Amino acid sequence: MKVLLVCLGNICRSPTAEGVLRTLAEREAPQLALQFDSAGTSGYHIGAPPDPRTMAAAQRRGYDLSALRARRVRPDDFTSFDLLLAMDEDNLADLRAQAPRSAQPRLKMFLEFAPDLGRLDVPDPYQGTAPDFDLVVDLVERGARGLLRALATQSSRSLRPAGSAGE
Ligand code: 4NP
Repeated sequence: MKVLLVCLGNICRSPTAEGVLRTLAEREAPQLALQFDSAGTSGYHIGAPPDPRTMAAAQRRGYDLSALRARRVRPDDFTSFDLLLAMDEDNLADLRAQAPRSAQPRLKMFLEFAPDLGRLDVPDPYQGTAPDFDLVVDLVERGARGLLRALATQSSRSLRPAGSAGE
C-alpha cells in the first residue's frame, strides 16, 4: 500500500505527515507493508528540505524530518499511489483537476481519517508562528493514527477468505 501526502509547498504539512506516518507505522503497525511519500501541488520549493519551523515543531515531538526534500506532484503519482491524501480543500481541488478519471476515487482529504476532529483542513502555517506549526503536528498525529487504524482494518479484512465477512 503506497500513500502520497500532498500540500502546497511540500515543506510544511505534507512532509510532517510523511515523517509522522513513517515513525508511527514502524512503531505501531510493522506488520503492514506501507510506503509513504509526499509532494506539493506547487513547484516553489523543489529540492528544499522542510521549513526550519516545521523541522523544529516535529523535533519537539520526536520526529526527524531532516532527510526529506520537496518535490512536485507528477502525472505518474496518480497511477503509482493507492491513496493520495490532501492537507486542505485547495490541495484536493488541484489534485482533482490534474488526476485522470480512474484516479479520482483514490483522492481524499487526510483528515477524513480523524472524523472526531470535526474539521478537514490542516491549516497552512507558512505565514504563521510556532503555535501554528505545533497545531500542524497535533492534527497530523490524529490523522496519522486514524489512517493507520483504517489500513490495519482493511488489511485484516483482506486476509479473510471470501464470503466470511461478518460471520
Ligand atoms: P505547505 O506550506 O503547503 O504546508 O508546505 C507552504 C509552504 C510554502 C508556501 C505556502 C505554503 N509558499 O507560498 O511558498
